[in-house]
Amino acid sequence: MRISVIGCGYLGAVHASAMAALGHDVVGVDVDPVKVAALQRGDTPFFEPGLPELLTEAGATGRLRFTTDMDAVAEAQVHFVCVGTPQQADSYAADVTYVDEAFRAVGRRAAVGSVVVGKSTVPVGTAARLAETLAREAPGVHLAWNPEFLREGHAVDDTLHPDRLVYGVDGSEGDIATAVLDEVYAGQLADDVPRIVMDYATAELVKVAANSFLATKISFINAMAELCEVAGGDVTLLADAIGRDPRIGRRFLDAGLGFGGGCLPKDIRAFMARAAELHAEPAVSFLREVDSINLRRRERMVDLTAGVLDGRPLAGARIAVLGAAFKPNSDDVRDSPALDVARKLADRSAHVVITDPQAVPNARRRFPDLRYVQTAEEAVQGADAVLLLTEWAEYRALDPDKTALLVASPRIVDGRNVLDPQVWRAAGWVYRALGRR
Ligand code: UGA
Repeated sequence: MRISVIGCGYLGAVHASAMAALGHDVVGVDVDPVKVAALQRGDTPFFEPGLPELLTEAGATGRLRFTTDMDAVAEAQVHFVCVGTPQQADSYAADVTYVDEAFRAVGRRAAVGSVVVGKSTVPVGTAARLAETLAREAPGVHLAWNPEFLREGHAVDDTLHPDRLVYGVDGSEGDIATAVLDEVYAGQLADDVPRIVMDYATAELVKVAANSFLATKISFINAMAELCEVAGGDVTLLADAIGRDPRIGRRFLDAGLGFGGGCLPKDIRAFMARAAELHAEPAVSFLREVDSINLRRRERMVDLTAGVLDGRPLAGARIAVLGAAFKPNSDDVRDSPALDVARKLADRSAHVVITDPQAVPNARRRFPDLRYVQTAEEAVQGADAVLLLTEWAEYRALDPDKTALLVASPRIVDGRNVLDPQVWRAAGWVYRALGRR
């Protein structure tokens, strides 16, 4: 099929490459000439494992191109809108300006009979509103909502092998959009990926409900971590034990510094804002607690760091921060818990030295006044305390004996509960963690 993808960020670049690899003819369009130039060269403008290979593979077929020229979408039978919906600067609500602009631009160019497919995460009711606009301004062009569940760091695999496909379609003409999407995803459907067809509102809600559930699961275990801290328990053992119950499940019960990134935090806030507009605020008011448990973990990390210094003031202490990305295998620092903690420590006059295998350039852009180094070895040099804040494999594999030779005092705070306390203590370290002794 001839496909256009509007917006070539994390979602769009992966989606465009995956669609081309699956045999479709794809044009990716973005307003950012730098991003487009990189993609045209076969470079990824961000770090995503497997994407360079996928881009090369798809590029070699001659079926994938990128452009800033919106007119290139005119030939496509399906248009995927993959632009961002960030949190508004002055409220919890999502900013849907980019979605609206993308729909206007596509609507003006889309051929009669083509389908515009929204993939962006939007407040419920957006698709119905956009469908009305399309009906008025681009009659004969159909709309579907097809939320995306990919995780950064696993985006390629999640796109090629999704858990499920969700189609939100209009009651009266939904069969057309469903048939077109079935053709797009024929490869996945042949692999028995479940596909669930529903109305627009449910499809929009599926996405925010899924992210809200995941955020709630993380904050639940972090609330248990708070209790373990005061009662003398161990949250990792607690998670292992409750996670054995298949109704609960162990995944997303990793207690620690909590969630960040461009999705979970802003999605739960946008959900609260939208629920309030719909006079259904109480239905999701628990998400306020989910958000505050999550943010409390960052404060707690700062307190633990101050506490581990054994009476020495935080001001002037040299603190090594391992990790700046919001999670491993990503260079994304949006709402990164690690970077937030580093910022808070620096604001309290600690000498913070940050490292990350991939996210240093983005972190430096976000906080240019903080100090960054390339390697963990450099970061821990002369440190009064080491903080493990993003669980990259190389930090999990740190050797406590070798690291002890580099620091000023062997003190480590494990913000992600990924180190073995016994091993570190046996090597002479003071070991502290969130939610366990
Ligand atoms: C999330 C969802 O998992 C995806 O399904 C969704 O498509 C995506 O948002 C989106 O809306 O686009 P992502 O933000 O890439 O994906 O990252 P996650 O793997 O969900 O992790 C989010 C945060 O939770 C990270 O900061 C991670 O460190 C933290 N986390 C995760 C924990 O603190 N504990 C856990 O047990 C799991």
